Amino acid sequence: MIKKKLNISDIKNKKFKNPLIVLTAYTAPLAEILDKYCDIILVGDSVGMVLHGMKNTSNVTLDMMIMHAKAVKSRVKNTIVVVDMPINTYENNQSKALSNAKKIMRETNCDAVKVEGGLKIYKTVEMLVKNKIPVMGHIGLLPQSVKKESDYRAKGRDLENYNNIIRDAIALQEAGVFSVVIECVIKELADKINRIINIPTIGIGASDTCDGQVLVTADILGITKKVPKFVKVYDQLNTRIENNIKKYVRDLKLKKFPSKNNYY
Ligand code: KIV
Repeated sequence: MIKKKLNISDIKNKKFKNPLIVLTAYTAPLAEILDKYCDIILVGDSVGMVLHGMKNTSNVTLDMMIMHAKAVKSRVKNTIVVVDMPINTYENNQSKALSNAKKIMRETNCDAVKVEGGLKIYKTVEMLVKNKIPVMGHIGLLPQSVKKESDYRAKGRDLENYNNIIRDAIALQEAGVFSVVIECVIKELADKINRIINIPTIGIGASDTCDGQVLVTADILGITKKVPKFVKVYDQLNTRIENNIKKYVRDLKLKKFPSKNNYY
């Protein structure tokens, strides 16, 4: 498959014909595969749960994000790479946000950062964009703000929340983000945002009217144990890995491995 590499301004100006294909990667081998098919690879802070066994994203650090983003970038040639700014690295202090965003950009050579929130982080986003840091927004369900299980429910069901999310989308557009992830909101709300704002939206459990779709790659491959309704699972990789480990263990026990093909 021949893929045209988009750049940040192609995305912002909606110069693409097909839905934007966005998936997460945290490692070099997966990034190399995704590079053939994706428009954007997201080094998401979901890495905390997927690779580090954490319960949520609250203990993901800047150094972790930089380490995984470097690994991803080492194998990506034709795809925009966006790196999540982890919790407590940008929300409450603008100069800290700028120095952390610059550190991510400098050390990983990625193309943009992603931050969670809308109106509350308007000034920070505006300041990052003025300092030539491309920013992707993230509204709706904000994993960094989840405190309890019920916070994972779809957003926009009550009027106040519905209006706040619209307000967040408009604020991020005004602050200059080049695109915005809309996570786990009712379809009617996502559709309304898609009519109101001009920058591309990337849905995750939002709506088919979004300009692109993003999912956590481990979720679609069946590596994650429990996935939300909005995920389509294409494989049961965990089971297949376990089956192969069992075969290897059996070979060792039966002295079938190593054989003369495996030593010198
Ligand atoms: O961290 C992540 O993987 C994300 C996606 C779920 C959008 O933010």
